[in-house]
Amino acid sequence: MTRILITSALPYINGIKHLGTLAGSMLPADVFARFKRAQGHETLYICATDEHGTPTELAAAEAGLDPATFCRQQHDLQADLGARFGLSWDHFGRSSSPQNHEVTQTLARQLWEGGFIEEKVTQQVYSNADGRFLPDRYVIGTCPHCGYAAARGDQCENCTRVLDPADLLSPRSAVSGSEDIEIRPSKHLFLRQSLFAERLRAWIEDKKGSWPLLVTSIALKWLDEGLQDRGITRDLEWGVPVNAADWGANPDGLRPDVEGLKGKVFYVWFDAPIEYIGATREWADATGADWERWWRGEAAADVTYVQFMGKDNVPFHTVGFPC
Ligand code: 2FM
Ligand code: ZN
Repeated sequence: MTRILITSALPYINGIKHLGTLAGSMLPADVFARFKRAQGHETLYICATDEHGTPTELAAAEAGLDPATFCRQQHDLQADLGARFGLSWDHFGRSSSPQNHEVTQTLARQLWEGGFIEEKVTQQVYSNADGRFLPDRYVIGTCPHCGYAAARGDQCENCTRVLDPADLLSPRSAVSGSEDIEIRPSKHLFLRQSLFAERLRAWIEDKKGSWPLLVTSIALKWLDEGLQDRGITRDLEWGVPVNAADWGANPDGLRPDVEGLKGKVFYVWFDAPIEYIGATREWADATGADWERWWRGEAAADVTYVQFMGKDNVPFHTVGFPC
């Protein structure tokens, strides 16, 4: 009998989940898991908190806590809520777990050594007052097109034009309001998604009929628009460190710039879906079970994997994670 692996989209750590989060992906996944167990299938239902990224760092600072303490508290709250709603997770993990660090770093090393990651120098906004790089939406200023005074670095909410932080007039930090900001070069890693375009298209085409129509349409639309390589690192403190010191050479014989990548962490959307695997390892470590038999090789040949998520998450699950 087929074994069933179920994951529901990982809730962000910051903010207590509301009924919409529950109804959107956790509850349907729970119903499906209960149904499959009742049918006699060996079933594993995995979820976790999605803990990294700038919003987490800022929420922790606002709460007057360091990110690790903030996330531990929030995780416990969310785990308790899930239990009280009667969700039948086999494991509710954490994307900041040592297991996820290890899987994320291993996959990144293998991608580098296979030639699927490249280094690029990008121009990032640095706030001297905050002592940190600011992601686009944490830079605000006056829109050069419509004059709206509170346009964000990635887009003007007033005229909807897409912006670069460097376009803004009188740019300032959304964190502190300080205008003492500058553009600094910073080395980053990019996942060469474009190399996967053909294989992805064939795989997604093959899923027509088994995935919901909306899902294959969203995935194919991304491919039709041309699959872009994607930055997978950030200048943050809280996250999975890149740790490229033990990476080998890529197929061109290049070693990573270990020094230039020091202090970088992976982008939250890189390590979050990997936590589906990381959380399975957390569960296996806690119970003595075998995680690989759910995820890879011959041992997992009888597993059907079903993901539950909201519409916004589809591109990350049909393109980024499969790459
Ligand atoms: O959109 C969200 O709420 C994300 N935290 C979902 C992540 S799903 C998975 F990739 F981790
Ligand atoms: Zn504007």
